[in-house]
Amino acid sequence: MFENKTEQEAREELLKSVGAYCRKYKLNQKPFQAGDRITYAARVYDEREMENLVDSALEFWLTTGKYADRFEKDFSEFLGVNYCSLVNSGSSANLLAFMALTSPLLKEKRVLPGDEVITVAAGFPTTVAPIIQYGAVPVFVDVTIPQYNLDIKMLDAALSDKTKAVFAAHTLGNPFDLKAVKEFCDRNGLWLIEDNCDALGSKYCLDGETKFTGTVGDIGTSSFYPPHHMTMGEGGAVYTNNALLHKIVNSLRDWGRDCVCPSGRDNICGHRFDRQYGELPFGYDHKYVYSHFGYNLKATDMQAAVGCAQLEKFPGFIEKRRNNWQKLREGLESLEDKLILPEAEMNSQPSWFGFLITVKPEAGITREELVREMEGHGIQTRNLFAGNLIKHPCFDEMRASGKGYRVVGELENTNRIMNDTFWIGVYPGMTDEMIDYMVKVIKEIMQ
Ligand SMILES: Cc1ncc(COP(=O)(O)O)c(C=O)c1O
Repeated sequence: MFENKTEQEAREELLKSVGAYCRKYKLNQKPFQAGDRITYAARVYDEREMENLVDSALEFWLTTGKYADRFEKDFSEFLGVNYCSLVNSGSSANLLAFMALTSPLLKEKRVLPGDEVITVAAGFPTTVAPIIQYGAVPVFVDVTIPQYNLDIKMLDAALSDKTKAVFAAHTLGNPFDLKAVKEFCDRNGLWLIEDNCDALGSKYCLDGETKFTGTVGDIGTSSFYPPHHMTMGEGGAVYTNNALLHKIVNSLRDWGRDCVCPSGRDNICGHRFDRQYGELPFGYDHKYVYSHFGYNLKATDMQAAVGCAQLEKFPGFIEKRRNNWQKLREGLESLEDKLILPEAEMNSQPSWFGFLITVKPEAGITREELVREMEGHGIQTRNLFAGNLIKHPCFDEMRASGKGYRVVGELENTNRIMNDTFWIGVYPGMTDEMIDYMVKVIKEIMQ
């Protein structure tokens, strides 16, 4: 088949066919018709993603390699941060971000078991899970509606002499009050981890300087699971401007090792056999020296290859998400007496993940009834993840004992979200026709 062809020529021919296949069989979507299913999210891609994916398959390096290197470099440039570590999911990114704060290399700033971390219960479980898994104590504060973010008025009340960090998400793309939270952290010597998994591309203006969310605190995290702002199937990233935190994150990601040479490449530093570590024999192979109790949370090069192509499209995705959100906001405005519509945080430009709606008591319909009707018309809906995480079975033991977590004030809005809130999509593949249809259906149900 490839007679007289070099490997490069053969590869180019294959990739051309892959591009043609993608255009013919994957991109030929039929136009939307009323009643077709409107998912809350979907992958948006073209032949570039598929060609990159096949290119990395033909390379057959499989593990983290040249595409991962490229992604880490391009992604940190995009965000304007010094360091980025590609990982295999957003949950892994959160685990690494938190566990990095427990490293002995941070000395007295290190988070120890029993220390407290301020967070919220109205969100995704894996923002909180690493805190509990390590034996630190999540301290839950309420959120505000209609921003759905951490209520900064509760921060001072949540502070104790054990508080070491704030770890919270920018909910569905809406940045939390980064100015107030950052000032609180700085004033009290706390770490700030921004779970940016649902807010990639959101911006916040802090003291006259506009920055991407995830880059204001000490560490930011992203998820590249398919519904998210961009995808590589499974994937995530941890980013920081702090060289020591970056070194710790990479060590924890890569089995806990001390050596920073990329997998499969030896002795880049030139000191593989000439140092003393712990109580090991002098000159012990640095590749097998462990400075942390780590994991293996690396992504594969196939995932990174898809991510590289998605990143090229990303600015367009952000724009489309904003336009879709705005169109829904304007379309549903007349229902504000029955539904609470979302609002962007002050000083922010959200890159929306979804459109949150809270059903008012006077609406004459419950969230369940509304959602069931919408689903019946083909419109996919989602709850704000856990609603109130403390009410879940994973909390049964802790709730019964009253130990292992703290609640500050009443989680009134958190409980309201658990009962009355849901969201619909604004993903970049959504067309004006789909949005008009969603608005029409919601209005008809609410009449
Ligand atoms: C706020 C938040 N953090 C973390 C995650 C976890 O990301 P992943 O699904 O890639 O593990 C999610 C998942 O959607 C999320 O919404």
